[in-house]
Amino acid sequence: MIEELDAIQSEALNAVATVTDDAGLEALRIGFLGKKGKLTAASAGMRDVPKEQKKNVGQKLNETRQAITAALETKGAELIAAKDAAQFEGIDPTLPGRTLPKGAQHPLTLVQDEAVQILRRMGFALAEGPEIETEWHCFDALNTPADHPARNESDTFYFENGKLLRTHTSSVQIRTMEKQAPPVRIIAPGSAFRRDEIDATHLSAFHQLEGLYVDTGVTLADLKGTLEFFFRELFGEDTEVRFRPHFFPFTEPSFEVDLKLHATGQAAKWIEIAGCGMVDPAVLQSVSESRKDDAFTADGISGFAFGMGIDRLAMIKYGVPDLRLLIENDVRFLGQFA
Ligand code: PHE
Repeated sequence: MIEELDAIQSEALNAVATVTDDAGLEALRIGFLGKKGKLTAASAGMRDVPKEQKKNVGQKLNETRQAITAALETKGAELIAAKDAAQFEGIDPTLPGRTLPKGAQHPLTLVQDEAVQILRRMGFALAEGPEIETEWHCFDALNTPADHPARNESDTFYFENGKLLRTHTSSVQIRTMEKQAPPVRIIAPGSAFRRDEIDATHLSAFHQLEGLYVDTGVTLADLKGTLEFFFRELFGEDTEVRFRPHFFPFTEPSFEVDLKLHATGQAAKWIEIAGCGMVDPAVLQSVSESRKDDAFTADGISGFAFGMGIDRLAMIKYGVPDLRLLIENDVRFLGQFA
């Protein structure tokens, strides 16, 4: 029986050595080690082995099984390695991976997010309104009479149905007060449109950030403190903020806000950045008429509003010399913000 086992082992090892695929290897496993395999058949002969030889022959049987099993396993590993190698044919797997171009946020999105974050920390909630607005929300309710120059055909984009592309985000003040009673503390970033001649500092579609706070006993000191804090957070602690008397139909008194920055490395000079003021009682009156209640005309209710150009904030924040760079989407420009 020892010879028979030797013969089976060498037959198996030779066969394994020449096999070239998984299927062939599996056939050999079954042919030798399977239930009806040659080794299994041979082991039935153990019955007839004389008692004193059983130990030796049994050991031989185990060795044979181990030798065949090991050969099958080694061959299996070799076949897998060969398959992998074939896949890498012509490819150098040690080369560094290909880097995919990384996207980045647009500078307008970056400043807007930062501005919104600062104001949210101060308790302002996000609000929004439509870009296609009614004349009432954009002008009348904001105490801007029909003969005001802002309402001119040549300054505003009108639709045939009488609606228009909002010329400022101040319409969101009205939209918000129509549906929410005081206290109202909102900011509204969004697009605004004017028939401006496009140049380095003007675009016909631009972005504004509107703010509105109406509550009991809101004062000019609140407005001033809010905007000063906001601009120092955004542009640095040593930013100087100046309020210059101005006129807006929907605020009284009204101011333009100028900034003097020291952090940009450029010669410090005053830059106009925002419009603001105390909400005009005429505006609160329009809202009351629309709401049919006195939530905004009740004793002691007052508020402030402000509006600024987000594009202008980006120009200052990132030293962008020309507004048009912000809308041309040249990746050489945008890539600098990645
Ligand atoms: N809406 C004004 C503008 O577009 C800015 C502004 C907003 C002024 C709120 C005062 C209060 O110029």
